[in-house]
Amino acid sequence: MSGISYDLKEKVVVVTGGSRGIGLELARHFLAAGARVVICGRKEANLAAAVETLGGGERLLAIPAHVAREGDVENLFDTAVHRFGGLDILINNVGMNLLTASVTDSDLAVWNKIIEGNLTGAFLCSRKAARILREKKRGKIVNISSLAGTKASPGMGIYGIAKAGLEMLTKVLACELAPFNIQVNAIAPGVVRTDFSKPFWSTPAIHDQIVKAVPAGRIAEIADLVPIVLLLASGHADYITGQTLLVDGGASVI
Ligand SMILES: NC(=O)c1ccc[n+]([C@@H]2O[C@H](COP(=O)([O-])OP(=O)(O)OC[C@H]3O[C@@H](n4cnc5c(N)ncnc54)[C@H](OP(=O)(O)O)[C@@H]3O)[C@@H](O)[C@H]2O)c1
Repeated sequence: MSGISYDLKEKVVVVTGGSRGIGLELARHFLAAGARVVICGRKEANLAAAVETLGGGERLLAIPAHVAREGDVENLFDTAVHRFGGLDILINNVGMNLLTASVTDSDLAVWNKIIEGNLTGAFLCSRKAARILREKKRGKIVNISSLAGTKASPGMGIYGIAKAGLEMLTKVLACELAPFNIQVNAIAPGVVRTDFSKPFWSTPAIHDQIVKAVPAGRIAEIADLVPIVLLLASGHADYITGQTLLVDGGASVI
């Protein structure tokens, strides 16, 4: 990514679910761009490992928080503001429980858990972030959705419904926050090589079947997403809002 300046120096960025996978790499690249980064996750051990991987330092803060718990979310953002003096960017990256029974065979507890993790958490974090960002009349929110929010996929029904909700949240917040010069966008990747999607890429037969439906001829690597998220979080995206950008190697067009 050398040669492109995203002008993120000293920006304060909260990356939810920053302890591994896509969130961890986003945190790494925001730090490399000079930003001050706050990561959160539920498990302290994962956060400690992430801090070690990222090399620690004064521009990194790791706070345990479950994004669907109001108290945790309040503490996450209040601590970020207290420590770094403000907030500029929120990346709603948390997502969980990809594979489940069909919607008709799922019980309410499963439904609630998946909606909480993939949608309610983004609502709570966005609401809190917006209340801070509105004051300074500038800010960015980037949501990590999924191709499953556009295409109905067997076994991913509730997850896809939650991600479709996240994409509508993106549009609604974009309208509500435009008067405050806050842009809200999302990316929707297809399968990305992380632990979360291991069931899809670790078995050669399943991997090959997925790749057949991707014009680019491969699944995504995290590196395919990072520059797009940094772009949407930067001042280069001041005139883009309410959009979900499919980062899927063309899988959605065939
Ligand atoms: N990987 C893919 O193929 C793919 C494709 C399309 C979209 N996405 C989306 O990309 C995002 C990141 O995925 P990933 O593959 O990087 O996932 P991942 O490797 O499973 O990482 C998820 C992160 O979120 C944290 N987390 C989970 N639930 C949380 C909660 N309720 N509150 C706070 N933190 C929580 C996890 O830490 P703890 O477990 O310690 O809480 C971890 O840091 C998700 O929104 C996912 O839906 C992924």
